[in-house]
Amino acid sequence: MFDLSGRVALVTGASQGIGEAIARQLAAQGATVVCAARTEAKLVAVVASILEGGGKADHVVMDLASPDSVRAAVAATLERHGALHILVNNAGITRDKLLIQMKEEDFDAVLGTNLKGAWVAIQAATKPMMKQRWGRIVNIVSVVGQMGNAGQSNYVAAKAGLIGLTKSVARELASRNVTANAVAPGYIETDMTAGLSGDAKAAFTQQIPLGRLGTPGDIAAAVGFLASEEAGYISGQTLSVNGGMLMP
Ligand SMILES: NC(=O)c1ccc[n+]([C@@H]2O[C@H](COP(=O)([O-])OP(=O)(O)OC[C@H]3O[C@@H](n4cnc5c(N)ncnc54)[C@H](OP(=O)(O)O)[C@@H]3O)[C@@H](O)[C@H]2O)c1
Repeated sequence: MFDLSGRVALVTGASQGIGEAIARQLAAQGATVVCAARTEAKLVAVVASILEGGGKADHVVMDLASPDSVRAAVAATLERHGALHILVNNAGITRDKLLIQMKEEDFDAVLGTNLKGAWVAIQAATKPMMKQRWGRIVNIVSVVGQMGNAGQSNYVAAKAGLIGLTKSVARELASRNVTANAVAPGYIETDMTAGLSGDAKAAFTQQIPLGRLGTPGDIAAAVGFLASEEAGYISGQTLSVNGGMLMP
C-alpha cells in the first residue's frame, strides 16, 4: 500500500524538521528522493542516513529566493534521475512581527520564499509531469493560513496564497493526471516552533483536542499518502493535520 517504487521525488527544505521527515517517509515508501535546501552539510547528512537505511536519495543545493536556483534544482533532478513524479514544496521561513512594526522587506522575503518560490518550482515541474501524464504536487501550508494569526500577516498571506495556488494548479493540470494538494500542519515540534516558551506551548496544547503538539512524522504520513497512486482521485484539497485544533 502507498508504494512509491520507481517514483522520483523532489522535497524542498529537506535538511531538517518536517521536510526531513517527508524525505525519509517517501524514501521508506520506495521513492528516490532528492533533498533540497540551502545548507549542503545538513542535506548530505540526511541523504547519508537515508542511504544507510537502504533508501534511495540524493541532494541538491537550492535557494527558493532565487528562481534560477529553483529551476536548476528541478533540471538537476531530471538530468540525474530521468524523471520528476512528486514535488513537495515544504521549505518555508517566518519573519514574525505585528503589522505596524513589520518592514516591507519582511513581507517580501516571506512571500518570495514561501509563495513565489513554490510557484517557480511548480512551473518548472509542470512540463515533465504533464509529459509523463503522472504527477503529484504537495504544498505544505499551515493552519494559520486557514484561520489567520496576529503577528504573522506576511506568513499567513503566503500560506493562504499557496492554498489558492494549489487549487488553480489542480484545475490546470488535472487533465494530465497531475494532482495538487496542500497539507496544513497545526503546531509541530521543529526548530520553527522551538522558540516558543513552555507557557505558550501549554496554551496551544489546550486548544488541541488530541492534547499534544504534532510531530514531523504526522505531516510526513499525510504527504506519503497524497503522493501515492491511491490518492489519485484527490486534488485541490487542503488536508488539515492539526490534532483537531481547526476543523475547517
Ligand atoms: N513547525 C510548525 O509548527 C509548522 C506549522 C505549520 C506549517 N509549517 C510549515 O512546514 C514547513 C517546514 O517547517 P519546519 O518547521 O520543518 O521548518 P524548519 O525546521 O525551519 O525547516 C525549514 C527548512 O526549509 C529550508 N529553507 C528555508 N529557507 C529556504 C530557502 N530560501 N531555500 C531553500 N530552502 C530553504 C531550511 O533549510 P536551509 O535553511 O538550509 O535552507 C529547512 O530545511 C514550512 O513551510 C512551515 O511553514 C510548520
